[in-house]
Amino acid sequence: AKVEPLKVMISGAPASGKGTQCELITKRYGLVHIAAGDLLRAEVASASENGKRAKEYMEKGELVPDEIVVMMVRERLLQPDSQEKGWLLDGYPRSLSQAAGLEDFGIHPDVFILLEVPEDILVERVVGRRLDPITGKIYHLKYSPPENEEIASRLTQRFDDTEEKVKLRLRTHHQNVEAVLSKYKDITVKVNGNAPKENVFAQIDAALIQLLELRKENSGSM
Ligand code: AP5
Repeated sequence: AKVEPLKVMISGAPASGKGTQCELITKRYGLVHIAAGDLLRAEVASASENGKRAKEYMEKGELVPDEIVVMMVRERLLQPDSQEKGWLLDGYPRSLSQAAGLEDFGIHPDVFILLEVPEDILVERVVGRRLDPITGKIYHLKYSPPENEEIASRLTQRFDDTEEKVKLRLRTHHQNVEAVLSKYKDITVKVNGNAPKENVFAQIDAALIQLLELRKENSGSM
């Protein structure tokens, strides 16, 4: 019988390492990475009406309204590659209404991963983060520096990556996280995100391996 593809959600405070772990997870599991923040930044870059509106909220560190985000994520999830290869949903849902919106469409994850990192570390991670606009790779000036001068010279910084803005983003995160967690409590795996990225990935990998083994056992007993 055909094995169903994995459906994974990953969540955590700003700069807890979601994007970094998604790079490692997709490399090993071949899932389609769908990041709400990346979809929104692409919309902002296109200077569309929705993009202009989204940017106002992102600059304040607030959630972008559902009428912009919900359709965007749902459309991406329902595309054939996500259905065939499985998906890794990053930074979504961030509110009860977004979780309910997925449920209405019959979209359920197999596992909800929560990265836990103390707050003082998050601020340091945000301020030192840099992005490679060509490869999309995430760097950190101290923890994950660029491989060579050429890459270093082209790195960019996100417009919401200042100490002041990350505090607003953290406040929004705290206001919403419990409600979302309550929705997925039975399938939540809490991961210590305050460790080198390879060690964080090892915890996630172990949880996914366990999930796949459990599935294999269940399908064998039918
Ligand atoms: P989004 O883009 O999702 O931002 P975020 O949640 O604030 O998360 P980040 O992307 O900042 O961090 P990350 O956890 O991916 O960390 P990373 O791996 O880069 O959202 C941006 C905005 O869009 C929101 O504020 C909101 O306005 C809007 N939005 C998004 N989703 C929405 C939704 N569902 N509804 C409504 N609005 C929405 O790592 C951070 C840094 O730390 C990097 O430099 C990295 O190299 C370093 N690092 C990572 N792991 C480690 C490690 N283990 N050790 C040391 N350093 C590490």
